[in-house]
Amino acid sequence: MADRGGDVTEDAPGHYTAELIDVCEAIWGEGFLSPGGTAEVGRIVGSEDIRGAAVLEIGSGAGGTAMALIEGQGAGYVTGIDVEDGVLTHARQRIEARGLTDRIGLVKVVPGPLPFPPDTFDVVFSKEAILHIADKQALMAEVFRVLRPGGRFLASDWLLGSRPPSAAMEAYIAAEGLDFEMATADDYRAAMEAAGFDHVVTRSRTEWYRREARDELARLKGPLGRKAEDRVGKQFVDRNIAIWERMIPVLDAGEHCPTHLSAVKP
Ligand SMILES: C[S@@+](CC[C@H](N)C(=O)[O-])C[C@H]1O[C@@H](n2cnc3c(N)ncnc32)[C@H](O)[C@@H]1O
Repeated sequence: MADRGGDVTEDAPGHYTAELIDVCEAIWGEGFLSPGGTAEVGRIVGSEDIRGAAVLEIGSGAGGTAMALIEGQGAGYVTGIDVEDGVLTHARQRIEARGLTDRIGLVKVVPGPLPFPPDTFDVVFSKEAILHIADKQALMAEVFRVLRPGGRFLASDWLLGSRPPSAAMEAYIAAEGLDFEMATADDYRAAMEAAGFDHVVTRSRTEWYRREARDELARLKGPLGRKAEDRVGKQFVDRNIAIWERMIPVLDAGEHCPTHLSAVKP
């Protein structure tokens, strides 16, 4: 059973270091560790009306996605869970500065079963976080359990185009250095269906992100990157440029597949 960590008082470094959070926010906006910002959160929610909803966010990171769910989509309350102290501390500061502490609660968890009773949430949301969780079947069974009947799973994630990944894709995943556990759309679909979900949909976002990634790389190589060097050092910015240079070819090849996912608990 996962521990519910409650208030976080210690800062462990984790994968998402202060330097990485800094560079991600410079590229993707305040509180975001993934692309597209508030507008992309809106596109994941799509035509669903989540006003007033009780939302669980898996992998809430630096807080940007939870704040977008409240401010952009009118969610009632977001419970964000994450495994890393550094991002949780950062997110708490962002959420407090925006005056949203009464609408967003953050909980430190350890990987494993979700520390919530059955039928608790109207929506389970996640953006670019499930790629860190190896057992998609176990996770989707847990998502199903904590959703109320009629509840929605709405997510975005980075998927594999096919198995086995090519050498270029393996090299890109290794360069990220974030313990990605990527799976295919078929794997996700099978996990959602095995859990009991209906109306399972996967929708490719690769074309969109191919364009975005080129723009991000240009900005990293330009004034945005030079400014970031003053804060995090040239070596760190160069390392990220090298990651983007490995990522764009595997996006172009259809091996790295940003994808929207949705499903309904009957
Ligand atoms: C790429 S970041 C995305 C954060 C945020 N959703 C966003 O889009 O800005 C992935 C987050 O998932 C968290 N994470 C990794 N494994 C997790 C797990 N088993 N349960 C919950 N969160 C996890 C990481 O610590 C990180 O904060």
